[in-house]
Amino acid sequence: MFVQFVSLLALATSSLAAPVQDITSLGYLRCSSEGKVIGYISKSLNSFGEYKGVSPDSDSTDVNHRMLVSLDVTTNGTQSLLVKNAPDNDYPFLGGIGGEEGSTIGSDGDYLHVGGTGTTAPGAKPAYCGNTYTDRTNKLRKCESAIWVFNSTSSEVTPQWTNDAGDVITANIGYVDEAFVLTGDKKEFEDTWEDEVEWITLAFET
Ligand SMILES: *[C@@H]1O[C@H](CO)[C@@H](O)[C@H](O)[C@H]1NC(C)=O
Ligand SMILES: *[C@@H]1O[C@H](CO)[C@@H](O)[C@H](O)[C@H]1NC(C)=O
Repeated sequence: MFVQFVSLLALATSSLAAPVQDITSLGYLRCSSEGKVIGYISKSLNSFGEYKGVSPDSDSTDVNHRMLVSLDVTTNGTQSLLVKNAPDNDYPFLGGIGGEEGSTIGSDGDYLHVGGTGTTAPGAKPAYCGNTYTDRTNKLRKCESAIWVFNSTSSEVTPQWTNDAGDVITANIGYVDEAFVLTGDKKEFEDTWEDEVEWITLAFET
């Protein structure tokens, strides 16, 4: 009887604890190309487990298709973005996933996919953290989640990828075949894959 009383008291006390200060914001990731808004990152995956884009012109109710992410607006370094409306809760973060040539990018045309991933720590090298691309294609690929840098002045969100050797690359974001790639060199990517690419910048829109 006494034991029961004590544990009830402990429960009542802990529920009175001050709430943790909420420093995360919810918002959408707006895509611009050459200064013009072309859409948003969508909450939907294609059959390869890559996140798709949403055109602002394609559907007037497209706000329902946008990905909603949670972002810590006070962090200057790299952080993971939690997808609040993720289609696959096993891989809840918006992350980079190794491409055909591996998980290192730089001065050549190598690239990464963008999909749902498990979590990695800021600055960590690519790891088998689990991701939607591997899940959908059965191709084992490394990934990273904490690759996003938020600029609170411009609201821009830029990817900073840590390579297998530990060097850090500020990546370009390409929009190709309604999916996204991260690559180190725009021209090398275009020359290597001969793809029609829109180079985009991302902004966090609350
Ligand atoms: C982020 O950078 C700004 C400007 O350089 C600085 O004033 C601020 O203290 C930094 N915040 C953190 C959390 O490091
Ligand atoms: C953040 O954006 C502002 C405005 O575009 C720019 O002047 C500044 O250099 C950016 N900061 C970083 C760390 O890139």
